[in-house]
Amino acid sequence: MLRTHCCGQLTSKNVGEQVTLAGWVHRRRDHGGLVFIDLRDRYGLVQVVFNPEISAQVHEVANRLRNEYVVKVSGEVEKRPQGTENPKLATGEVEVVVRDVEILNASKTPPFNVNEDVDVEESVRFKYRYLDLRREKLRDNMVLRHRVVKFIRDFLDARGFIEVETPILINSTPEGARDYLVPSRVHPGKFYALPQSPQQLKQILMVAGFDRYYQIAKCFRDEDQRSDRQPEFTQLDLEMSFVDEEDILTLTEELFTSMVEDVTPAMRVLKPFPRLSFAEAMERYGTDKPDLRYGLEIRDLADIAAGCDFAVFRSAIDVGGWVRGICAPGCGNYSRRQINELAEFVQARGAKGLVSLPLGGEQGKSVAAKFLTTGQIDEIAKRFEAKEGDLLLIVAGEPNIVAEALCALRGEIAQRLDLADPNLLAFCWVLDYPLFERGEGGGWESMHHPFTAPRDEDVPLLDSAPERVHARHYDIVCNGCELSSGSIRIHTRELQEKILRLLGYGEKEIEQRFGHLLEAFEYGAPPHGGIAPGIDRLVMILAGEETIREVIPFPKNQSAMDQMFGAPAEVSDEQLKELHLKLQLE
Ligand code: AMO
Repeated sequence: MLRTHCCGQLTSKNVGEQVTLAGWVHRRRDHGGLVFIDLRDRYGLVQVVFNPEISAQVHEVANRLRNEYVVKVSGEVEKRPQGTENPKLATGEVEVVVRDVEILNASKTPPFNVNEDVDVEESVRFKYRYLDLRREKLRDNMVLRHRVVKFIRDFLDARGFIEVETPILINSTPEGARDYLVPSRVHPGKFYALPQSPQQLKQILMVAGFDRYYQIAKCFRDEDQRSDRQPEFTQLDLEMSFVDEEDILTLTEELFTSMVEDVTPAMRVLKPFPRLSFAEAMERYGTDKPDLRYGLEIRDLADIAAGCDFAVFRSAIDVGGWVRGICAPGCGNYSRRQINELAEFVQARGAKGLVSLPLGGEQGKSVAAKFLTTGQIDEIAKRFEAKEGDLLLIVAGEPNIVAEALCALRGEIAQRLDLADPNLLAFCWVLDYPLFERGEGGGWESMHHPFTAPRDEDVPLLDSAPERVHARHYDIVCNGCELSSGSIRIHTRELQEKILRLLGYGEKEIEQRFGHLLEAFEYGAPPHGGIAPGIDRLVMILAGEETIREVIPFPKNQSAMDQMFGAPAEVSDEQLKELHLKLQLE
């Protein structure tokens, strides 16, 4: 090794030792004579001092050093003079007095300061990701990600799981996105599809008898990018045989709670994870991804609205719409401008408008109050368990729009009132999903994927009322983000075929796309189920980040490009020819 110690490792215990360090110039200060450098490596910073009285030659080199130069220094660890200690730095009690220095490599002036936690445009950060990754925040995020994955591996290994790799060049497996396709050179006109998840492969591993499988698996989905979506991302993919829902729920809950205790002990977890049915989540929070760090629950006012003279409410109810709202505690004194902002906020999400009803002195401001009797206002206030000084915010209209608007409004009010404790991890289970939903073309689509088992008692409904069939599916949500999906699977050919037919697949397509799985089911497939938490989203939440791009070492940008490599890129005519492809760009 070129070094004897790491920069971040030195403490007063090392005083008197001769050390050699190698790292980057984080910051340089010239105190007219003495030159101070903060030397940085992955483990931290240490102050090194160049004194012309100790060595003029060493001091001369120090004058040439600039930020991000790579240097090797040797010298003695000394206690810093009294009053110059830096309690914010782990190495802040000591400094290294340099006797020898070597510049290992120079650096151009970086396009942004590595030594400052300032906002830099994402495109620049992505182009120079190696510089970005030198910064403290990203370095810490990568270390956290490593710890999370290591914890998962140790936890599952201790419980008899084995990690099995599955192929990347494979065939399409439906998870609701477009496939990334790879043309075959050897088989003209044929394509591999990158896995949207290893779903079918893990089920086949159950048929193969590996009854406790997991994999830190790369998945690929061509879909619109969002703060919590990347074209390639990582799942903890997990599957078990001879289990029911409760086994998977218990194992996953134990994994998450013990991981948080180990990896981010300053964070608290809601224990046990609350369980909500899909219907209850939609009813109380307007979404199946509720943030349970705060209340602000949605309340239904349909019965009161039906009996009142307020046209906005009545007209919604008359056409089968919803009248629902939330209570913003202590916001009864919101100004006209603040209320208008909230109205615009819900209108941007499709709502026609926002009915505001302050409780107490400010009621004169409310249009709704003019059309409601005192008795009706009291009844509404009671429904929200609201008190004087609170502000009721009500939306009337088409159910989906009301739910979406109120869900967003909940988040907005929580943010304004600072209700979401950043150190609380409010995990919750969402259960009892319907198996199917209506697709855009009017046919049935899987609410998750086609391999999810229906509840045993609902199987007869597959023929008569598919909309009433419940799935043996479970989601984990944390702080408003969908973290994991999983289910007990179908494990017989007969039922799997029936579901695929209901989903509109023809016999030929069933055989082509799923024949391998259906056949496997005929060779003694055990009952099985599993789950797949998203690692990127999990680390994002544990790191307190807003987007998974902050916890992925080399993410793609919002338009699915890698800005460092310039991917996707054009390829040579030669390569296209080999792949039997001709481009026809429009
Ligand atoms: P699902 O499609 O719900 O289920 O994915 C499981 C989890 O993977 C994460 N995730 C993503 N993360 C980042 N970018 C994306 N584009 C992205 N898409 C999904 C989420 C999500 O909860 N095979 C099933 C799981 C199973 O049934 O076992 C599946 O993939 O955290």
